[in-house]
Amino acid sequence: MAEQVPLPGPLTGRTALVTGGGRGIGAAIAKNLAGLGASVVICGRTRAALEHTSNDIVRRGGECIAYQCDITDLPSIEILADKIRRKFRRLDILVNNAAIAIFRTPLHALKPFEWDDIMNTNLRSVFYTMRTFVPIMVTNGGGHIINISSLAGKNPVPNAACYAASKWALNGLSYSVAEELRGSNIRVSVICPGSVDTDLSAHEGKDKSRMLTAQDIAHAVAMVATQAPQSFVSEILIRPTQKP
Ligand SMILES: NC(=O)c1ccc[n+]([C@@H]2O[C@H](COP(=O)([O-])OP(=O)(O)OC[C@H]3O[C@@H](n4cnc5c(N)ncnc54)[C@H](OP(=O)(O)O)[C@@H]3O)[C@@H](O)[C@H]2O)c1
Repeated sequence: MAEQVPLPGPLTGRTALVTGGGRGIGAAIAKNLAGLGASVVICGRTRAALEHTSNDIVRRGGECIAYQCDITDLPSIEILADKIRRKFRRLDILVNNAAIAIFRTPLHALKPFEWDDIMNTNLRSVFYTMRTFVPIMVTNGGGHIINISSLAGKNPVPNAACYAASKWALNGLSYSVAEELRGSNIRVSVICPGSVDTDLSAHEGKDKSRMLTAQDIAHAVAMVATQAPQSFVSEILIRPTQKP
């Protein structure tokens, strides 16, 4: 079969990093950005999932490189940044997507190490990636950081208080850093989806056929990433049309 040659797209020449890009919402985001022409780097802890998504993108004529990287480990992120710098010399789009959650546990029953795992993955890692990649974007002359938050960062979520707190904090961090970086031509956007059908949660008692799909979130990310330079979509809330 003849090799597929990708047509130039709105993100051709741009490099994007999607954390947690091996599966779930991150994989859908990576596929969409690659389809728009971006050179995509995905990272996560599970090599098999990363390779599966990366092979899928390459098979469709896109560019994707997968790196195993635990985003709670700053040295691993710095090694990843070195690899990106050597290969692409730039990073234009950073999608902080990776997260974990514990549902169905009241806060008083949560173990301290579980609190640390959630906060380190969902919040501290975003500090780490921004600390590492913002200087590269500043050197590039600009960039876009898209943080995948949640409606759990807008509402109370009983029995998932730590997850909710991590997302409320991620929103506050995003709004504040957005103001810090506007002058450097770096837009920081936050996307807050409602229930999405992925492995993150069993979504017990909810009708999966009414839930959002990973592709719905990927669509919003693509829209944000392809905005004209003068336009800054700072926040998007995504709800399923019918309550699941
Ligand atoms: N699903 C929903 O209902 C929903 C709703 C609103 C917002 N969100 C948000 O959407 C984002 C994606 O969630 P999802 O539903 O796609 O979840 P998911 O299917 O569980 O995927 C989570 C991703 O994060 C990666 N990850 C977790 N810990 C990591 C670490 N320490 N280092 C690197 N990668 C790590 C996982 O890869 P490995 O396990 O291989 O590391 C996986 O690729 C999250 O920010 C989540 O909070 C989800």
